[in-house]
Amino acid sequence: MHTATQERIIRPARNVLGSLRLPGDKSISHRYGMLAAFAEGVSRFSNFSTGADCASTLACMQALGAKVSKRNDGIVEVTGVGGRVTPSNEPLDCGNSGSTMRMISGLLAPQQGCFTLVGDASLSRRPMERVRKPLEAMGARITLTDGHAPVMIDGSELKATDYTTPVPSAQVKTCVLLAGLQTSGNTTVREAVRTRDHSELALRAFGAELARTIDSVSIRGPQKLHGVDAVVPGDISSAAFFLCAASLFTGSSLVLDNLGLNPTRAALLDVLTALGAHIAVLNLEEKNAELVGTVQVTALPEGLRSAEISGPLAAQLIDELPVLAAIAPFTSGGIRIRDAKELRIKESDRIALVAQNLRAMGAEVMEFEDGLDVPGGQTLHGATIDSGGDHRIAMAFSVAALRAEGETLIQGAESAAISFPEFFQMLDQVAER
Ligand code: S3P
Repeated sequence: MHTATQERIIRPARNVLGSLRLPGDKSISHRYGMLAAFAEGVSRFSNFSTGADCASTLACMQALGAKVSKRNDGIVEVTGVGGRVTPSNEPLDCGNSGSTMRMISGLLAPQQGCFTLVGDASLSRRPMERVRKPLEAMGARITLTDGHAPVMIDGSELKATDYTTPVPSAQVKTCVLLAGLQTSGNTTVREAVRTRDHSELALRAFGAELARTIDSVSIRGPQKLHGVDAVVPGDISSAAFFLCAASLFTGSSLVLDNLGLNPTRAALLDVLTALGAHIAVLNLEEKNAELVGTVQVTALPEGLRSAEISGPLAAQLIDELPVLAAIAPFTSGGIRIRDAKELRIKESDRIALVAQNLRAMGAEVMEFEDGLDVPGGQTLHGATIDSGGDHRIAMAFSVAALRAEGETLIQGAESAAISFPEFFQMLDQVAER
């Protein structure tokens, strides 16, 4: 199979100035799309993620009988199947999206019929045992090949479980909750680190009842979901590239409105503040239990200091670590990342690719099994960046390139469209040259 790859040249910038409104959060859009397609009735979403990953979720749900359309005003309208999907003869293509594959597995395991979930080369390398294990404990019949996709599901009635996730994962938590939603009795998921809680908030918004403690969530099934109208908050993991870019230049000022500020996602704001950027939250409101606000970042003349990201913080910041590592050479004291082994099994081995690309730009970096040490006070030069087809690597190094000497060539730049098709256009809009 031939996949077209695109290259992008990023020129250094003087400053990052302006205001942006980011497309809808990827994690929330997956959940809204999946739950709406499963629910009874019609749901309507504005600012739904424009990324290819969420399109994969919608396409899978359409293949399972839901109706999905994008209206002229941009609103995504979903008519749900009312709790019973139609088995598809064709494999369900999850593309590059781990969220789609892992979360749909839990939705389908208690349904009637056989289902096969497939993905692209990157997704086919990612571990799926982590969803098979809890689902099998519930009595599900799931077949993998060597722990990987294709995920073959022979749907059957399940029994409730009490499961402690061995590795913090919101995708696995969601997978178990979606199976529990359709299963008699009380299904509980326990986690050592509180991962993003969009599923819990979305399930409630669609009418389900859940019980939460500090480290667990329980759902008593079976329950029905009902369609909703909702606005998807701007994606803070996409905002991360701009927040980091603005933090790099004294005199920068960037305003991002309608930004999702769910506390399980907003740790980056604390880290940037600790590094020395000035972050102001200008207003805060609640939409379908998700916090949304306007954030202004201003870079101070003292520049950025140093940070250590380890323990629970590493899990909470997992999607933002590539961009933090990419800007670390421009801090005075460097950034140390540990307890982030999960980065090796994301869309690419993000520890290896960050180290390789930082070195290509002339930086010193130490690679560990579970993290990186990137010393501060370094100068980077423009280079050719291998994104490995990974959206977050392509975007992270586009940000580092703004402060490099000379031009940087990003290979595989089209991968940004997995989560953020508008990225390069928005970067051009706010990067002053
Ligand atoms: C996600 C959870 C995280 C994250 C991914 C999106 C989600 O993955 O890295 O980008 O939407 O639940 P894990 O569940 O593997 O930690």
